[in-house]
Amino acid sequence: MTQVENKQAMHDTPFVPIEKIVALCKRRGFVYPNSEIYGGVAGIYDFGPLGVELRNNIRRFWWWSMVQMHDNVVGIEGAIITHPRVWEASGHIENFVDRLVDCKNCKRRFRIDHLPEENVIQNKCPNCGGELMEPRTFNLLMETYLGVVEGERMKTYLRGEACQNIYLDFDNVVKSSRMQIPFGICQIGKAFRNEVTPGNFLFRQREFEQWDLQFFVHSSEMQQWFDYWKEKRFEWYKGLINHKERLHFREHRPDELAHYARQAFDIEYQTILGWQEWEGIHWRQDWDLSRHSEYSGQDLSYVDQNTKERYIPWIVETSGGVDRTFLNLLIDAYEEEPDPSGKEARTVLRLHPTIAPVKVAVLPLQKNKEELVTAAKDIHKKLQRLMVSQYDEVANIGRRYRRQDEIGTPYCVTVDFQTLDDRTVTVRERDQMTQVRISIDELPLYLLERVTWH
Ligand code: GAP
Repeated sequence: MTQVENKQAMHDTPFVPIEKIVALCKRRGFVYPNSEIYGGVAGIYDFGPLGVELRNNIRRFWWWSMVQMHDNVVGIEGAIITHPRVWEASGHIENFVDRLVDCKNCKRRFRIDHLPEENVIQNKCPNCGGELMEPRTFNLLMETYLGVVEGERMKTYLRGEACQNIYLDFDNVVKSSRMQIPFGICQIGKAFRNEVTPGNFLFRQREFEQWDLQFFVHSSEMQQWFDYWKEKRFEWYKGLINHKERLHFREHRPDELAHYARQAFDIEYQTILGWQEWEGIHWRQDWDLSRHSEYSGQDLSYVDQNTKERYIPWIVETSGGVDRTFLNLLIDAYEEEPDPSGKEARTVLRLHPTIAPVKVAVLPLQKNKEELVTAAKDIHKKLQRLMVSQYDEVANIGRRYRRQDEIGTPYCVTVDFQTLDDRTVTVRERDQMTQVRISIDELPLYLLERVTWH
């Protein structure tokens, strides 16, 4: 298949059912249900050997592009537990709520903001047509307690959004890193929400991970930086996916804006579940630093070193999910294509090589020929120092290629009898299944060039 035909094939691929992704994740060790032997916990998952590699690659790539590649951005890593007053100041205790209704007939529960408008107006269940009960309001913050002595224990919360640490540390970063506005602070970290309707696998969980950029600006430059980061983040996601047409922006209506946002755009990705939020770009204005100044009694204003103007910075936020990225990239990459030789279909994960959990698999043509095994193990040991490499000698070579295709390994190196004569190997590429013969000495550079982001 030529590259053009391949692109066309990707374009026309039907939406993959989530069940296929769930099954692949379990079968190949990407994701497991948490506490499965006890029946599991809704909305909480563990990541297996390949899952943790993929997650780390996703995180690393975000950090590299957002922190390392920007002189005006630095990173922090804040704690999950903070002073409880943080959540009063942030507005989460008052506003971080879901309004739910239960059906009197089929007993199903719905978030009101997820119901079709006509069902809300007619008070009718979208599942069975039954009557809906009075709506109830639930706060999503997860409570926890500090201290052991009854009566002295302090109630606090697992953070409901990871970004709060960034506002809490803003003044420390300015003073310790001598950052000057405009500048940004990034963080990747866990967040916890008592989602009343967790579901769709990793899409809506109770424990998940967010990445945030909070970019601090003077109000007069807010629009320009908002536009800048909005485009930048869109291009970032676009660069990682095959189905570019499945990505778009959606602006929030005034009635759906979060309590901290004056304006918001979601970067949405289209799957079998429809268009869904992947990352939010929020115009937070001076909400956060003003509120924390007010509630803590500490002045979080900033003094411009040149003009001596003192002001509360405005904030552009870009906030996305590591888990949604993990899920969307798997959905985007998954393809079942007919085998050119007419045998069983090939399942392939067309993940970007920079993100793929395993970069290369080294395969001796036969496992019962000692010289081939020794040469292959030697190559694997050398490559392992540079990238995640797997050695595999089990089953015929075609089957081993298929195993690697299914987990998205971009390159397979085969060691055959010619290797023993001239120190060359074949490198087989995952997407086009083309093979080239190159020398063992050139192999590390050849692979590094192809798995590194350019
Ligand atoms: N600080 C802003 C904030 O938290 P958000 O839109 O609630 O905004 C940002 O969350 C991102 O976090 C979402 O775009 C999504 O990728 C991810 N996210 C939110 N809730 C999630 C959940 N329950 N499970 C998995 N990811 C979630």
